[in-house]
Amino acid sequence: MGTQACVGAISEGEVMVRAAAEIDRFRIGEHRAIVVRRHEGDRYLVARAEPLGVFRRRSRHTVIDLHRIVHIFLWTPHELWLILMQSSDRASQRVHHHQLRAIIVGAGFAGGQHVDALRRLNVHVAAVVGSDPARARAAASRLGVEHGMADLDSALAVPDVDVVHVTVPNAQHVPVVTAALAAGKHVICEKPLATSAEDAFALARCARQAAGMAFLCHNYRFYAMTAEFRSRMQRGDLGRIHLVRGAYLQDWLLDPRSTSWRVDPNEGGASRTVADIGTHWIDLAETVIGRRVEAVTARLGTVHASRPDWAHVSTFERTAKDGWVDIQTEDQAVLLLEFEGGTLGAVTLSQVAAGHHNDLWVGVDGDAGSAEWRQERPDELRLALRDGPVEIIARDRAALSPGAGGLTHLPAGHGEGWGDALRNLLGAAYAEIRGERSSEEDAVAPLPTFDDGARHVAFVEAALRSNRTGEWVRIGEITAAVDDAARREVHS
Ligand SMILES: NC(=O)c1ccc[n+]([C@@H]2O[C@H](COP(=O)([O-])OP(=O)(O)OC[C@H]3O[C@@H](n4cnc5c(N)ncnc54)[C@H](O)[C@@H]3O)[C@@H](O)[C@H]2O)c1
Repeated sequence: MGTQACVGAISEGEVMVRAAAEIDRFRIGEHRAIVVRRHEGDRYLVARAEPLGVFRRRSRHTVIDLHRIVHIFLWTPHELWLILMQSSDRASQRVHHHQLRAIIVGAGFAGGQHVDALRRLNVHVAAVVGSDPARARAAASRLGVEHGMADLDSALAVPDVDVVHVTVPNAQHVPVVTAALAAGKHVICEKPLATSAEDAFALARCARQAAGMAFLCHNYRFYAMTAEFRSRMQRGDLGRIHLVRGAYLQDWLLDPRSTSWRVDPNEGGASRTVADIGTHWIDLAETVIGRRVEAVTARLGTVHASRPDWAHVSTFERTAKDGWVDIQTEDQAVLLLEFEGGTLGAVTLSQVAAGHHNDLWVGVDGDAGSAEWRQERPDELRLALRDGPVEIIARDRAALSPGAGGLTHLPAGHGEGWGDALRNLLGAAYAEIRGERSSEEDAVAPLPTFDDGARHVAFVEAALRSNRTGEWVRIGEITAAVDDAARREVHS
């Protein structure tokens, strides 16, 4: 067993171990032992105090509450640590949490919804950042936030800001996320993570090395009934699954006069429908079945060849202005999919399907039964076991698995929906930051990471490539090309 060593650099009271390769935990009497294997360089820093809940195998970023540390044994320097900690019940009495403070960058539709959800979570929103001073002030006044600012650096310098919410158009995610992580903040970024796989994987790498945690806004994982769907899949209720099917249909772009930054490749990215709503569908399908998509073949279609110039038009606002422009991004797409283990999938995506406002649904077929969840009927899970009746399981805490039950807040029959799922996602991210996330909830509604977001942007590029070539494209081909480019850059 090597020499015992106390680590002097942590005498300020707090320590953070980050970019740990692997973390194991176990109990010794009333202590908890954490083994952190570290593989490259010196990676510990002084940071804030947090309780124990953050220790998870999958965590790449781990915060340790020093009040709980009894001893730290350091075996070979840079290799292996054993940290003995008090059990959480005793230590939790000593942990003090300050109210976390956030800023919102991008005060449009998503930004407003984040402010709303944060109010329900008792998070203080210190400022909103808009694209110019007048719009920022107007947004702050509309949303009841103290400061409306147009300069990101000034907003990042507002005292005691812990978390930055990135709700700007897709092409702006990279500069805003990069600045926020560099300032040591935690980041919650809207999807899709970036407009190119290269940028998305660079952001994911940046997040892994940053002091703050980083989460992606895939809110559809956080409905009580999608978590219940995942829970039943984990239990094996449907048997061996053979097909994942579904759609994500909207109609807000059916009128050719409708437009937004999303139709402009410079702001939304080369793909619109696959990137904007297809990534939500893929993320939910992967989360429910617990398998990643590996390959895609896609056909994309643009129904309206021209639309008004989007400048100065808010999302979902219809306009009949002059100055129409050619449209390159797709209004609709059909995709065939292959998930890990060879499971097949098929999904239809559209933003021009009349009467389908936000109609995302995922169905899974297995040899013991089928199940389906639909966003426009969010409190229901349709279940049909082989030889059994078709059942509609209604959201009711008493009928749900413990993790999914924690995501419902109203009594049965009192509808919950999109805003509640966003609040659940943000609540989970803040709980993770505080180190209070429940492992039961984490099992059925895991927090979306930048690594997930980067894979999904690679998926979007695979769909675009398939549409050009007519071939199946493996997501690994896109990620390998990005890895090669990153390696070449390091060596040049
Ligand atoms: N998770 C979801 O379900 C969901 C739903 C809607 C939107 N989104 C995502 O949220 C993001 C924003 O979409 P939206 O619908 O809110 O768009 P929006 O047009 O309604 O709002 C974007 C806002 O950002 C502002 N802005 C642009 N550049 C800026 C900058 N550099 N600094 C500060 N503000 C800037 C714009 O003026 C606008 O007010 C997108 O990435 C989108 O994909 C996610």
